[in-house]
Parts: sequence; C-alpha cells; structure tokens
Amino acid sequence: MTKAKRMMQEDIKLIDIVIELLDARAPLSSKNPDIDNLATNKSRMVILNKADMADARKTAKGFFVLSMDSRKNSGMKPVSDTIREACKEKIARDRKRGIINRPIRAMIVGIPNVGKSTFINSYAKKSCTKVGNKPGVTKGKQWIRIGKDVELLDTPGILWPKFDDQEIGLRLAYIGSINDEILTKSELALKFIDFLKINYCNALTDRYNIDIDIQNSENFEILKQIAVARLCLLKGNEPDLDKAAAILFDDFRSGRLGRMTLEEIPE
Ligand code: G4P
Repeated sequence: MTKAKRMMQEDIKLIDIVIELLDARAPLSSKNPDIDNLATNKSRMVILNKADMADARKTAKGFFVLSMDSRKNSGMKPVSDTIREACKEKIARDRKRGIINRPIRAMIVGIPNVGKSTFINSYAKKSCTKVGNKPGVTKGKQWIRIGKDVELLDTPGILWPKFDDQEIGLRLAYIGSINDEILTKSELALKFIDFLKINYCNALTDRYNIDIDIQNSENFEILKQIAVARLCLLKGNEPDLDKAAAILFDDFRSGRLGRMTLEEIPE
C-alpha cells in the first residue's frame, strides 16, 4: 500500500465525514473507486466542484449533494448545513451518550486538480480559526474550525486516478488531473476535437474565429487552423500543433471554451 494511502487511512480514523470533491465536468471519471473501501462506516458527502465550468443542464441531472465554485467562499453555508444533515444520526447518538457540542470532523478527499486546496482555503477563510492539537489527535494535525460545530482537517487526502478504460484516462487528461504525457499534447487535442465535434460543435469556431466546417473537416486540419489563428508557427511558417493544443487545453481548463461536461450522467 502506498504511503499516501496509509496516511489517509490513519486520518480517516479521526473524522466523522468524508467529503469527496469531484470535477463537475467529469463526475464519473474523477471518482476514485478506492474511497468506497477507505471510507466504510463514515458519513459521505459528494461535492461537484468547478460547477461554474460545467454544462449546467447536465450538472442538474446528477446524483450530487452540492455543486460549487470553490474559488468563491460565499457558498460555504450550504456545505456546513449538509455536513450537519449527513451526520445527524451520529450527533443524536453522541447526545444520548451525554456527549454534547463535540464538533463534527470532516476531511476533503479527491484526485489531483479537482480543487481540494482551493476549497479548503475558501472554507477556512470563512472563519479561519485553526484548532490546535487535541488529545487523541495525532500531533501536528491542524483542524480548521467552521462555525461552532464543524472542524475540517487542513490537509486533503489525495486519491490517485485509477482507470482501465482509455476513455476515462482521456477525460482525466483533459481536465488536467493526470499528466498530458499519456499522449502528446497534439494527439490528445485531436481526441478532444472528436468530443467537441459531437457535443459542442460551435465552441471552436466561436473561440478561435476560424472559418472552417468543423463537422466535415479532419481534426488535424482544425488544429492547424487554430495554430494559424493564434500565430503558433514554427520555422518556415509551419503550424505548431503542440502549441495550439496547449492553448486549446488552457482555454478548456479555465472555462474560456464555454461551459462543458465531458460525460453523460445516467438518470
Ligand atoms: P487540488 O488541491 O485538488 O490539486 O486542486 P487546487 O485547489 O490546486 O485547484 C486546481 C485548479 O483549479 C486551480 O487553478 C484552482 O484555481 C482551480 N479551481 C479550484 N476550484 C475551482 C472551481 O470551483 N471553479 C473553477 N473555475 N476553478 C477552480 P490553477 O489555474 O491551477 O491555479 P490558480 O492560478 O487559479 O491558483
């Protein structure tokens, strides 16, 4: 077992609720199946993060509890409310045993780049009381107090993306959760253009102002046109496809290509 996974197992012992951050643009692919075993017997909550960049109609169809833009710390009250709701049986049990006012302890987990640190920072800013070490809590662990009854572990649990399906790997590469190196940037862009052709066919012409029949052109030709439009040229004025691909992914990952969801969520 990897060290990170062992550490997460230790941290999970200390908490009441596991808050799993998924990427709203790929809510199935950005889920790591290991968490189901790691978090048995804990309350669970799912947040579809980066919802501001996902296709709103598709997010609304999902199984989520909350969807959010973690860069804004204004939407944090529903998070605390939902944590309380998810842990209400535990609170009732504690109360029966005479334990009152013991805060609910929560931990953020998720694959790289879903926004774990951003979420913790926003959440922390809201109240920003760091809670020191406590008896029974491993030395050095920092807890962020939120309101009077929730404490969040300040370091997230990182889950490594796991997949056997190449399509899942592609989606994880598009959202920047695994290195682009599984394919070269331009190869990855050619696959991404396939997806855009079917699902968001106007996105490229709108963004890059290119005059090309997207549906009936080769992906390679489309990428070339993006390179020319963005003046990504090699010696001899050859289009620099890798640079064009980098621009394309930068635009997608920052939402400039428009709101998009990469996979269908079953009803
Ligand atoms: P991680 O800890 O899970 O690895 O992710 P992290 O918080 O570092 O966030 C990864 C990137 O995603 C950051 O952008 C961050 O700003 C962005 N992000 C996080 N949550 C949201 C969200 O809800 N909506 C949107 N649109 N973006 C979000 P970056 O470009 O890598 O860094 P930065 O320059 O923005 O700091």
